[in-house]
Amino acid sequence: TVDTRELLLSRIRDVPDHPKPGVMFKDITPLLADPVAFAALTGAFAELCVRHGATKIVGLEARGFILAAPVAVSAQVGFVPVRKAGKLPGATLRQAYELEYGTAEIEIHAEDLTPGDRVLVIDDVLATGGTAEASLELIRRAGADVAGVAVLMELAFLDGRARLEQALRGAPLEALITV
Ligand code: PRP
Ligand code: MG
Repeated sequence: TVDTRELLLSRIRDVPDHPKPGVMFKDITPLLADPVAFAALTGAFAELCVRHGATKIVGLEARGFILAAPVAVSAQVGFVPVRKAGKLPGATLRQAYELEYGTAEIEIHAEDLTPGDRVLVIDDVLATGGTAEASLELIRRAGADVAGVAVLMELAFLDGRARLEQALRGAPLEALITV
């Protein structure tokens, strides 16, 4: 609802020139510290989980973990972490993606997803879309289907939505707030 959006937006702090000059950092810690706002966010994501028929939730390290884990509990589906490369101890799938400068790699435990799973990816911010795009590759490589991607905030001027379009293959990209 409009009220929920206003509440969430009011709890996100803009921090100029962080982590470097020219970047406006979207700080979600005020939202996390407000139990009413955090519960409203969890509820909105859980509703999307049900609406899109997700059987698992993937959270993207690190900030995505904080938002996705309570959603998985609330929606009563499993939580699967996508971690930065080198952290997961078991057999993993690994995916590289482009950053502004250089590349990064993320991983998933291959056994955590099975054919028949429908996965909702949750993260705080969609910026260039590189992280989310790589997570969709991992989910498909693990043999599961993509139920959608849900983010708290989409930074529309960076056009991550366009970058994600192919990887989504028609699955929805849901942004609770677009700026
Ligand atoms: C941030 C943010 C998203 C990602 C969005 O994570 O939390 O995960 O960048 O950017 P993109 O759409 O251009 O890929 P980051 O890896 O900076 O740090 P975190 O570990 O604090 O989540
Ligand atoms: Mg992140």
